Amino acid sequence: MGDLMKITVIGAGYVGLVTAVCFADLGNEVLCAKKTESNMDILKKGISPIYEDGLTEMLKKNVEDGRINFTTDIQEAVNFSDIIFICVGTPQSENGKADLSQVEDISHNIARYMNGYKLIVEKSTVPVNTHRWVKKTIKRYAPEGTDFDVASNPEFLREGTGVYDFMNPDRIVVGVESDIAKALFKKLYDPFTEKGHHLLITNPSTAELIKHASNSFLAMKISYINMIAGLCDKVDVDVEMVAEGIGLDERVGKKFLNAGIGYGGSCFPKDVKAFIKIAEDHGLEFGLLKEAEKINAHQRRAFLDKVEDILWINKDKNIAIWGLAFKPDTDDIREAPAIDIVRELKENGANLLLHDPEAINNFKKIFPESDHLKYYEDQYEVLRNADALLIITEWGLYRSANLKKVKKLMRLPIIIDGRNIFQPEKMKEFEYYSMGRR
Ligand SMILES: NC(=O)c1ccc[n+]([C@@H]2O[C@H](COP(=O)([O-])OP(=O)(O)OC[C@H]3O[C@@H](n4cnc5c(N)ncnc54)[C@H](O)[C@@H]3O)[C@@H](O)[C@H]2O)c1
Repeated sequence: MGDLMKITVIGAGYVGLVTAVCFADLGNEVLCAKKTESNMDILKKGISPIYEDGLTEMLKKNVEDGRINFTTDIQEAVNFSDIIFICVGTPQSENGKADLSQVEDISHNIARYMNGYKLIVEKSTVPVNTHRWVKKTIKRYAPEGTDFDVASNPEFLREGTGVYDFMNPDRIVVGVESDIAKALFKKLYDPFTEKGHHLLITNPSTAELIKHASNSFLAMKISYINMIAGLCDKVDVDVEMVAEGIGLDERVGKKFLNAGIGYGGSCFPKDVKAFIKIAEDHGLEFGLLKEAEKINAHQRRAFLDKVEDILWINKDKNIAIWGLAFKPDTDDIREAPAIDIVRELKENGANLLLHDPEAINNFKKIFPESDHLKYYEDQYEVLRNADALLIITEWGLYRSANLKKVKKLMRLPIIIDGRNIFQPEKMKEFEYYSMGRR
């Protein structure tokens, strides 16, 4: 383990909290700054308000050992250490560009309270050259002559497996402009490089661009296989076999070639849009990404059309849904395909029976319970008298479901699997439909 350090993390969302807890678990002393007092009491007891595998256990241990603390006092947070990670939100604005107001606001606030050299690190996903604005803002508002660096250290963790990904990164990318910043990062990430994880050191603009280019490439890969799945549906070919056939080529790779309803979540949709806008601002038309977006939007439509083709009229049908989160192992429903699907089926007059192991509370904020829309804690209870089951998120507990029990509970054994979680040859007892498979 490298030398221990004091670290400030600003923002306690999916990225901020995971970053803070993982750095603490590596033995560092961490202060995590929140905007509001909400959930402060539970965080201080070591309970994570967001669902991430292993996060609460790790948080609890580090709270008890006194390595992590929380505050809403920005001055205290800035004064606490020399390294400040910015992990605030960078949502999509109305015109598709990244909304950087939270980054601007925190830069301004960090500047006000600087009490000596600080390394200010953008961990939030930001457009290329945002560090120049952060630097300019800090220079404007910091006490005259204060020494500081701004660096980029984009985060690549996947929600749901955030803790694992943070601790076992494929690569760590840092963009720095000074030797002091470079040395601080080397020391901070020493426990990772010692274990053989790759630390890529570059300049801040390159690091910022790598993040957008990386997410956009992954989104493109999903849309590519979904387009192929659409074709497979028409020509009686199994998309999974095609994915295997192309994925065995190491230049393509097997991962991220799962056909389904398409991507959602808090990152891909907004990052692809922001990247298109960045290109546009520099006079470039990113048609490739626009097409990936178009295909992704079409997947939800295609799934709903499939449901209608199979059920004919959705009105008054009891439609059970497995999975509301945008992906398994998270309670996050931002841009989740389930939102569009539930909205349309509700408008069609279907009786909706909804299940998800973690995301129900978040979903209820958009779709409150009503006579025609009910939530179930049990993955089997939701199926009682259902005319069809739609699978929208590929949670492990659905993959390992007791299919005999499923069949017994449903009124009609119709399953429309938007995530291809079952093998068609094992579903002979059902009227089973999936995406791009014979
Ligand atoms: N969620 C992911 O899987 C993921 C992965 C990689 C990168 N990112 C990027 O990381 C950034 C954060 O994403 P997230 O999912 O954690 O967002 P989030 O919305 O879960 O968390 C952001 C948090 O920042 C807080 N915040 C805003 N201003 C603040 C301030 N002045 N002081 C203290 N806290 C403040 C907000 O209250 C919020 O809790 C985004 O840029 C995102 O694109 C996210």
